[in-house]
Amino acid sequence: METVLVIDFGGQYSQLITRRVRELRVYSELIPYDTPIEKIRQKKPAGLILSGSPASIASIAIVADINSADHNNSPIDFINSVYDSNTVGVDRTSGEKLSAKSTSKTFNLRMPPLISKEIFALGVPVLGICYGMHLITHLLGGKITGSGRNEYGKTTINFSLDCPLFDGLKQKEICWMSHRDSVSRPPKDFRIIASTQSLPIAGIENSAEKIYGIQFHPEVIHTPSGMDILKNFLFNICGCSSTWTVVSIIENQVKEIKDTVKDGNVICALSGGVDSTVAAILVNKAVGRKLTCIFVDHGLLRAGEDIQVEKTFRKNFKINLVHVKAKKRFLSKLKGVIDPEKKRKIIGNEFIRVFEEEAKKIKNVDYLVQGTLYSDVIESGTRDAAKIKSHHNVAGLPDDMKMKLIEPLRQLFKDEVRKLGIELGLSEEIVRRQPFPGPGLAIRIIGEVTEEKLKILKKADKIVLDEIKRAGLYEKIWQSFAVLPSIRSVGVMGDERTYSYPVVIRAVASEDAMTADWVKLPYGVLERMSNRIINEVEGVNRVVYDISSKPPSTIEWE
Ligand code: XMP
Repeated sequence: METVLVIDFGGQYSQLITRRVRELRVYSELIPYDTPIEKIRQKKPAGLILSGSPASIASIAIVADINSADHNNSPIDFINSVYDSNTVGVDRTSGEKLSAKSTSKTFNLRMPPLISKEIFALGVPVLGICYGMHLITHLLGGKITGSGRNEYGKTTINFSLDCPLFDGLKQKEICWMSHRDSVSRPPKDFRIIASTQSLPIAGIENSAEKIYGIQFHPEVIHTPSGMDILKNFLFNICGCSSTWTVVSIIENQVKEIKDTVKDGNVICALSGGVDSTVAAILVNKAVGRKLTCIFVDHGLLRAGEDIQVEKTFRKNFKINLVHVKAKKRFLSKLKGVIDPEKKRKIIGNEFIRVFEEEAKKIKNVDYLVQGTLYSDVIESGTRDAAKIKSHHNVAGLPDDMKMKLIEPLRQLFKDEVRKLGIELGLSEEIVRRQPFPGPGLAIRIIGEVTEEKLKILKKADKIVLDEIKRAGLYEKIWQSFAVLPSIRSVGVMGDERTYSYPVVIRAVASEDAMTADWVKLPYGVLERMSNRIINEVEGVNRVVYDISSKPPSTIEWE
């Protein structure tokens, strides 16, 4: 399978580049910048794309913070080896220029993420975007200048149309810039292929080595010809063919799973959502009756969901299914726990214990299948992405788990899984289901989970969903649900004072759960939800609407 690797230097659009390449039907993976070269080589990439970054190459020469600690431990040699052999830093407060020999101060560097020059020896075409272009320039002996000013927004750009990257484009196009540093001298054997009025070097090329750099972002929609540029890189320069489809994922995964599993049995953690259902069908294709799906009702599901999942699954698939009713044990483990991360860990742990018990009954089970998605992996904290929360199916797993994991969707985004579901014959109803988190209502009840709160939240949540469906909005919205905070407020009902819970309504639009906008629900819909919740759900005297986007909030409250 042809793979284009996007090397992530922490840029805001790194993931988007991966998605765009996949949209052009070439398989793409995002990998951290410090992935060893050997690992990159093993993946046999057809092309490499170096992402943007908030870091600055020019800042290597202008040292960040200076403190008064131990001089000997400072990585001065490195700074010294970059552009200016005399100056290793500038004291930000005094403006004093410092050299390695003349100062007794320690340099506290915030090093920009770098990569070994060896990537150019892999013989693979390289495209550097923004910081990626600076990195190419820096590594191959060109020069970067920190202008100290940001350039941000749409600009008219002039392309050299004899460069294969710009094949079929007009000489002048609009592109999206977002940078501070710029290339002031390309490396040897590079020529300039793009410029703007204020930026003489907005693109560079070494056609013999197939190394390209562009200062603007082709992956964002504000660069209208961006997809054409990526297409040109993939097909004209890397020689890729547009063959990666969901069908190829099915074939690859089925083969891989077959090779992995061999003779043993497999269980699948089934939640009834699209991810675990698609994962189950894929594994079933590979190992047939050796697969048993385990549907754990932890008591934290939405109203009526347990019955619905079992019914739908048994009706549509010929796959072994065990329905485990485990509400009591989950609730007793969660008693008194208020910390969100603890809740997640406890639930993740308990899930595995249930799976292990069921696996024992089935015998000879070595593998557990989960419908983990790429967004779950990233949110649980990869080396580069900060840990936001432990998705129960990724970081919430106990260390002593004996079964090995099969996660056939680990590299996919939700919309890709939905396409895969359709390809595998799933109904629109299953494929279009809004995501529901594994830890369920436990992370929508803020604070301790109790039977009383569960009862309230289930009722309120059902009203939210009913009204969203009634308004024809269910499939247009990424997620819509209710949250129960652990506070009470004063109200008045039938001339009596009440002191009860508020219910929060949350509705968000998103493409892949990595970012999300709150949905501007019509007032009429909000009004009906509010009236119904307050009238029909005992213990609630107030309804509020969450109008925060992600970031800075997250979709779930915990
Ligand atoms: P956040 O709250 O991080 O959620 O913005 C992003 C998406 O992930 C879902 N989510 C989870 N899914 N296990 C899951 O399977 C989890 O532990 C988990 N936590 C959050 C959330 O519903 C949203 O779609």
